[in-house]
Amino acid sequence: MLNDLVLSSLRKKMNAAEGLEALVRALILALLMAIGACPWAHAQSTAEAIAQYRAMLQDGNPAELFVDKGELLWNEPRGPLNASLKACDLGLGPGVLEGAWVQLPRYFKDTQRVQDLESRLLTCMQTLQGLDAQSIAQTPFGVGEQINVSALAAFVSSKSQGMAFQLPQAHVEERRFYEMGKRLFYTRAGPYDFSCSTCHSQSGKRIRLQDLPNLTTQEGAVAGFGAWPAYRVSNGQMWSMQQRLNDCFRQQRFPYPVFASDATIALGVFMGVNAKGGQAVAPALKR
Ligand code: HEC
Repeated sequence: MLNDLVLSSLRKKMNAAEGLEALVRALILALLMAIGACPWAHAQSTAEAIAQYRAMLQDGNPAELFVDKGELLWNEPRGPLNASLKACDLGLGPGVLEGAWVQLPRYFKDTQRVQDLESRLLTCMQTLQGLDAQSIAQTPFGVGEQINVSALAAFVSSKSQGMAFQLPQAHVEERRFYEMGKRLFYTRAGPYDFSCSTCHSQSGKRIRLQDLPNLTTQEGAVAGFGAWPAYRVSNGQMWSMQQRLNDCFRQQRFPYPVFASDATIALGVFMGVNAKGGQAVAPALKR
């Protein structure tokens, strides 16, 4: 039923054939430029070519399909309690979506925890719908309810598009999480002695084709933190920030963090506070 609705909205929202064709064309162009096979390649840097390819895809960002799916999931009565998420409080009051995401992670009185979007969604799924938050947290990405969490995250973030990040730092726990996130960001360990900052605290760095945003600056934090959840063209998946971070823990050769753990939320606070004042673009389109 849900799939049917998503499919019909797919047909409506974008002409699939056209979208795919543009995608293939843009990919080929970006690749040709990257390897220097185009006559005009030298007039354009790889980063510019990728920016152009993103711009070409902007009209048909498949993230929109997940936004639609997330909206259905938000409004649909589900779970053992057969309730919707319409009364979920994401920080600005029950059911208030506009602007909620640009103030997350933040401290919540009812759970007495600093929570990011995904962990807060789990809280609402448990308290309102009777779903088991812990078992969802233990479900691998891209499976079962985790797919729904990503779609819900895409929907919620879309309601803050264009708004400025303003994570609250008034509560002592919010300030503690910022400091904790900062420490984690600079902690070097593992077989390569990497920290997040090894790859993400200098501007203009790149690994292969990917620009690595400097997450310690506002511009970099907006580009890196402010764009997720995002649709990843390379694997055709919608990724939440939790999944993005998980993959960076892998790149860092660290053990995978627990879904919605304090460590990942603290890193979110660090990046989100650094992004203060910058404009949210999520859900974005990424390589
Ligand atoms: C070994 C290098 C490396 C380390 C260490 C690393 N990352 Fe990354 N990170 C990357 C790469 C490469 C990408 C881009 C991946 C892509 O485009 O597919 C990325 C992407 C990101 C993004 C999204 C950026 C964007 O422009 O969308 C964020 C946020 C991020 N990393 C945070 C972190 C955090 C937090 C840590 C520490 C826990 C970390 N990374 C550790 C290499 C690293």
